[in-house]
Amino acid sequence: MKGPLLQAQQALGLSFAPVRVPITKSARQSGTRIITITSGKGGVGKTTITANLASVFARLGRKTLVVDADLGLAGLDIALGVTPRFDLGDVLDGHASLDDTLVTGAFGVTLLPAAHGRAELASLGTAARASLLQSVEEVAARFDVVLVDTGAGIGATVLDFAAIADDVVLVVTPDPVALRDAYAMAKILERRSGRRELHVLANQLTAGTDGLAVHRRLEALTDRFLDLELHYAGAVRYDVAIAESCAHGVPFVLSEPSSSSARVLGELAMSMDARSSDARAFDAPAHAARTPRLVPLHAMSPVAARP
Ligand SMILES: Nc1ncnc2c1ncn2[C@@H]1O[C@H](COP(=O)(O)OP(=O)(O)O)[C@@H](O)[C@H]1O
Ligand SMILES: [Mg+2]
Repeated sequence: MKGPLLQAQQALGLSFAPVRVPITKSARQSGTRIITITSGKGGVGKTTITANLASVFARLGRKTLVVDADLGLAGLDIALGVTPRFDLGDVLDGHASLDDTLVTGAFGVTLLPAAHGRAELASLGTAARASLLQSVEEVAARFDVVLVDTGAGIGATVLDFAAIADDVVLVVTPDPVALRDAYAMAKILERRSGRRELHVLANQLTAGTDGLAVHRRLEALTDRFLDLELHYAGAVRYDVAIAESCAHGVPFVLSEPSSSSARVLGELAMSMDARSSDARAFDAPAHAARTPRLVPLHAMSPVAARP
């Protein structure tokens, strides 16, 4: 698409093509791993998974940032039990810098908060998105791991963050609508963000449902129609304790560390962490220092968790 149609689309903030911001060298040289969490349908558990996966990385001693990129319906602050003083709305209004918005919770995860109740932020124009993305990458470069929690569905911001990510996690539930929407999202990610691999995490599994079967159903479609490899990232059961822990701001990986769901997220984090260590293997001392080692819970103060 070009010409007046594209201009009109951009003026309305409706451009679905990811903005082409050169990836900040500092972010990549620092070895920061960017993980974007996405889904087709809303309410499948992106925010829950992001908060918990981030808490695992923090427990592994990684300096961890979560970016609330759900510019319409933010919720990571509640899931992580933090109360931000400023948010992205203040940054875009010129009242605060991105650094001013950062807030580190009791579990060692730092949050870059989205704005509450600012619907217009969900449809930023191309220039504003490009500048926001660049600023976020500059902040990201100071962390080991950055998890980006995106809004539901196929919006421009989702594609931007999928395009810059090392890993994209697609959260899906066994619900046929969630599966169909997950396929639509996978297709868009392949076509518009150039993804060739996705991690599929099955969430909210009830008794009798199998995460691997959910993965296979999605894979049957992507294998047939897309040039996309789907890695099975595991299954998280439906458990009221998970919803309750989220509402109380205590990630379940910390309140229920021996549950099967906590172990699934622990293994996922470790596998992603091992692959980023491989990428840094040329730097032997740094590699050794990054070998996963769980930080004991009693040492989990915001300072202790961030060596
Ligand atoms: N595995 C799970 N078991 C029980 N409740 C869950 C689970 N995952 C998510 N939820 C609940 O489902 C609702 C939607 O989850 P959320 O993480 O906000 O989804 P999203 O970010 O994709 O919109 C929340 O109330 C959350 O607590
Ligand atoms: Mg959410």
